Amino acid sequence: MTAPDHCMPVIVGSVRRGRLSIRVARFMRNKLREAGIDAPLLDLAEIGLPVMEERLHMRDDPPPGLARFAKAIAESDGVVVVSPEYHGSIPGVLKNALDYLRSEWDRKPVGIVTVSGGGFGGVQVHNHLQLLFLRLNAVPVAAIAVSNVATSFDEDGVAQQERYEAGFARFLGTLTWYARALGAARAADAARNE
Ligand SMILES: Cc1cc2nc3c(=O)[nH]c(=O)nc-3n(C[C@H](O)[C@H](O)[C@H](O)COP(=O)(O)O)c2cc1C
Repeated sequence: MTAPDHCMPVIVGSVRRGRLSIRVARFMRNKLREAGIDAPLLDLAEIGLPVMEERLHMRDDPPPGLARFAKAIAESDGVVVVSPEYHGSIPGVLKNALDYLRSEWDRKPVGIVTVSGGGFGGVQVHNHLQLLFLRLNAVPVAAIAVSNVATSFDEDGVAQQERYEAGFARFLGTLTWYARALGAARAADAARNE
């Protein structure tokens, strides 16, 4: 077996009891793996970060799980974030996790996948996440909006509508293009600074 081309973790931005975004996260992980990309789930329900008292780089007592979360972002070629929309914005648990880090995100391409129970696909949380990632100096380049999540994906993460397969193909093409381009540029910078 050949080594995966890229590593792109999938952040699961919902810890709600009975959460449905996990279906979409499974879809993303499975499709990325099919494309030869290493795509571990960074599930905030498993990582269990406490409310942020201070950022990672300011602490000598990081909470359990934070080092693994930070390393996964820092070593990635790009990150996929699966987020539901809560009250027109970012779930608190996801914002909390993102607030711990900064340099780990530097110049990393990000794919934003938004999830909604209704028909609007989480357009507001998409806009809020886009602005947040730009503030973190990451590069939000690709997006998928999932509407009516309960009927759009089954429990195993299989899409029930053809448009998500086509949407994923476009998403992947853009995300991997930026992963190659930005990865080469970061490597050239690192070599110059050696
Ligand atoms: C606290 C809360 C707020 C919500 N606010 C919105 C919203 O603003 N827009 C929307 O389209 N759906 C909203 N919903 C519906 C969710 O998008 C839907 O329940 C979806 O399944 C949430 O993802 P989850 O199942 O992973 O928690 C909200 C749900 C919750 C629990």
